[in-house]
Amino acid sequence: MTTRYADFYRQSIDQPEAFWAEQARLIDWQTPPAQICDYSNPPFARWYAGGTTNLCHNAVDRHLADRADQPALVAISTETDSERSYSFAELHAEVQRMAAVLLALGVTKGDRVLIYMPMVAEAAFAMLACTRIGALHSVVFGGFASGSLASRIEDAEPVAVVSADAGSRGGKVVPYKPLLDEAIAQSRHKPQAVLMVNRGMAPMPLHPGRDHDWAALRAQHLDATVPCEWVDATHPSYTLYTSGTTGKPKGVQRDTGGYAVALAASMQHIFDAKPGDTYFATSDIGWVVGHSYIVYGPLIAGMTTIMYEGLPIRPDAGVWWSIVEKYRVTHMFSAPTAVRVLKKQDASWLRKYDVSSLKALWLAGEPLDEPTAQWISDALQVPIIDNYWQTETGWPILTLANGVEPQTTRFGSPGKAMYGYAVKLIDESTGEELTGAHQKGVVAIEGPLPPGCMQTVWRDDQRFVNTYWKSIPGKLIYSTFDWGIRDADGYHFILGRTDDVINVAGHRLGTREIEESIASHPNIAEVAVVGVADALKGQVAMAFAVARDASGLGDPAARLKLEGEVMQRVDQQLGAVARPSRVHFVTVLPKTRSGKLLRRALQAVAERRDPGDLTTMEDPAALQQVRELVGQGG
Ligand code: PRX
Repeated sequence: MTTRYADFYRQSIDQPEAFWAEQARLIDWQTPPAQICDYSNPPFARWYAGGTTNLCHNAVDRHLADRADQPALVAISTETDSERSYSFAELHAEVQRMAAVLLALGVTKGDRVLIYMPMVAEAAFAMLACTRIGALHSVVFGGFASGSLASRIEDAEPVAVVSADAGSRGGKVVPYKPLLDEAIAQSRHKPQAVLMVNRGMAPMPLHPGRDHDWAALRAQHLDATVPCEWVDATHPSYTLYTSGTTGKPKGVQRDTGGYAVALAASMQHIFDAKPGDTYFATSDIGWVVGHSYIVYGPLIAGMTTIMYEGLPIRPDAGVWWSIVEKYRVTHMFSAPTAVRVLKKQDASWLRKYDVSSLKALWLAGEPLDEPTAQWISDALQVPIIDNYWQTETGWPILTLANGVEPQTTRFGSPGKAMYGYAVKLIDESTGEELTGAHQKGVVAIEGPLPPGCMQTVWRDDQRFVNTYWKSIPGKLIYSTFDWGIRDADGYHFILGRTDDVINVAGHRLGTREIEESIASHPNIAEVAVVGVADALKGQVAMAFAVARDASGLGDPAARLKLEGEVMQRVDQQLGAVARPSRVHFVTVLPKTRSGKLLRRALQAVAERRDPGDLTTMEDPAALQQVRELVGQGG
């Protein structure tokens, strides 16, 4: 017997045109698309080309007729102890003010605007203002430091940057302006204008002629009306940088029409959301979850979205549940690490508040282990729904489409292939598809990728093709770079990355970027960074470095000093999120005779596992040092 979801899925794969033509009705078009998918130049898919629409219109203006006074955005900060709520009408006004200011600063259609901001409402205004006028936003996570920011400024070449005086984490104020000034100084590209939001938390000296104060310009544009720029469905809406195998982050470029349709469809089929419901995603606008499920998805669906600045356990471990109670949150989205953090606290925090409004909790970004899923499921008494996807795809690849048909959760599995995704498991060396149950392969997706997925790598079509579509021998197929298996019922299990990307507390980091930063220390000759399993964060980065001048490193105090210097360098260049948990000093790194670093062996030993076949290894003593270092626990 086929189930409703199985039929739905089949139609999406067998008759994609009809399927996605139907989904396209979920959004407003200025000119409805005549063609659904142009796949004449694989792997580049042009969804709804010729149709014109606007992302901001669909997120904001469209709701004015029916729900102008409903809260659209609630920005809560437990760092500054503030709550601000904006109705759709107020959001509309704020976004137009921001759009008018950006236009006044010289931003036009197709220009990039880099957004480097904490979780404040103005960050969402800036994103929506960009898409309103057809400019592309490029949000850089506020936890990144000047080196990461500089490389993104250089690649995106923004006309303007929107930032704030400071963010705050756990009560510690992080001034942004010095990091931004340093990044602009480092970058070859110089933005024309910088728009600063002053929260009154840190000094933000303005560079005359370049820097502007948002409050002052907003006051000049209080009554601004800025119409939405109707753009072709294929017009890029944003770029978002993400890590891969090389040190240079890739600008994932997303379209407009396909993305709007994909999000609207996911709100219905995956999240089973209704206008007027309240969505609380605890991610950050600097990550893809923030783009899709803090800003655009919930707003497109006419929901209230909650933006949260702060930790899950401050002022106490009940803070999220108090928000759920106060705002009658229906949909909550978080990451497994956050749940593991809460699990260490007293479970009674969950019983203190009325969370009966919650329909389900979705978790993504990293593997969800069974004990964590079971604990939160027992505590909340709602379905816990794992979902697996990537910055590249913009919305879930694997999960349960409970809006189509409620299905049983299997802890440990993010679920089934979502409609539109022709998910395959591929043998890495032969390129053959693995069709049997429980066979381990690379999770791959046959083209065309469904609407909402990346169009290309910003200004680098070749890199898009070579990186994602040519890694499997003999086939043009999209690789997720994750290992997976599937059971006989179509539930998938994700078994970790096939490349050098690591996942620390749900944050995706490239080990190569961290290595480059560490190697810039004058006393580091060589370094390897690997991800090591961690009970709380999923993984942590661990560095193994060879010093140029190792004399003196026999002294533990000298080792600690150098380790501290290296960590400080990573903090300054990339940000504390990328800081390794340890920097161990070795005299030699494990390599093959031809000089290739044996990362997997290194990782295995760092995790106290068997490194496997070492016949190609140059110097067997290398792993012995690692074994001793991690064996000592220090
Ligand atoms: O390795 C997979 C892991 O995170 C990667 C994507 O990270 P990012 O681009 O930051 O996008 C996160 C969007 C939620 C994937 O390639 N990953 C993501 N979700 C899961 C996961 N691993 C296991 N289970 C998941 N649910």
